[in-house]
Amino acid sequence: MKVFYDKNSFAEYITTQKAQHKTIGFAPTMGALHAGHISLYQEAKRANDIIVSSIFVNPTQFNNPEDLEKYPRTVEDDIRKLEDSKLVDAVYVPRVEDIYPNGMDRKHYNFGGIENEMEGAARPGHFDGVGTVVEELFVQVQPDNAYFGEKDFQQLKIIEKLVEVLDLKIKIHGVKIHREESGLAMSSRNMRLSETEKNASALIFQTLKRVNEWFRVISVPEIKTRVEEIFSTEKMDLEYFMIAEEGTLKEVDFFSTDHDFRAFIVVNVGSVRLIDNLHLD
Ligand code: PAJ
Repeated sequence: MKVFYDKNSFAEYITTQKAQHKTIGFAPTMGALHAGHISLYQEAKRANDIIVSSIFVNPTQFNNPEDLEKYPRTVEDDIRKLEDSKLVDAVYVPRVEDIYPNGMDRKHYNFGGIENEMEGAARPGHFDGVGTVVEELFVQVQPDNAYFGEKDFQQLKIIEKLVEVLDLKIKIHGVKIHREESGLAMSSRNMRLSETEKNASALIFQTLKRVNEWFRVISVPEIKTRVEEIFSTEKMDLEYFMIAEEGTLKEVDFFSTDHDFRAFIVVNVGSVRLIDNLHLD
């Protein structure tokens, strides 16, 4: 596994691979890697000659400077995990100036409205920051296939739109959420939970599963009330829960028969913001 710490040496590597007509599978990360990240490379391995990872904590997607500062940085460990996985051929760990040579400005995108829903509303500028970094990484990595987790379902949809808007020849693949045995969605932020908080956080997925049982049995407003009740007695702060149509990501208050629906939840456990979602069937 090769590791590149600057744009030029990485560009040389990519040029060589391209000259040999190798197909490239790519999944970008912000590091603090866990089995959920590795599952992206497992998926990528099925369909590409070369697997590329990147590790870059992208400043422009953090709307809260404290959150950026607190984000775990464990590059050496991450590289070891990627090496141990035996899935990845190259890791790109760019410097800030390799991604933002002209200063840290975000581009502004129109993704048809999905950028304003849910996380877009809760974290202003977040998806412009994600779009900016992923567009630049796509230019530098030149992947044929790129892999994103359903854990960040709205981000996955945003990237699909990004590729469409920019007319890039990159196929975007969504990968199922990798969970702890307790059901808690794996996340780099879980490292910041105490053991007690981690155990308590299993309630998030348990609740989503109950929502799925209630799907088409009780009304959407009643489901919302029940979810709010579940969290009202806990030492966790339910930031939002909603059921949205998968295409538009707009919140719905009733179920039609001709669309797919997904439940989305954000819970703050102490200072840790946890997100999860579940397709309803
Ligand atoms: P990060 O949070 O490091 O996640 C990198 C990728 O791993 C994303 O596609 C995310 O959805 C996926 N992922 C995280 N936890 C997962 C889990 N439990 N199961 C499956 N996939 C999981 O998302 C980002 O970084 C950044 O926004 C990035 C796209 C790298 C742009 O900076």
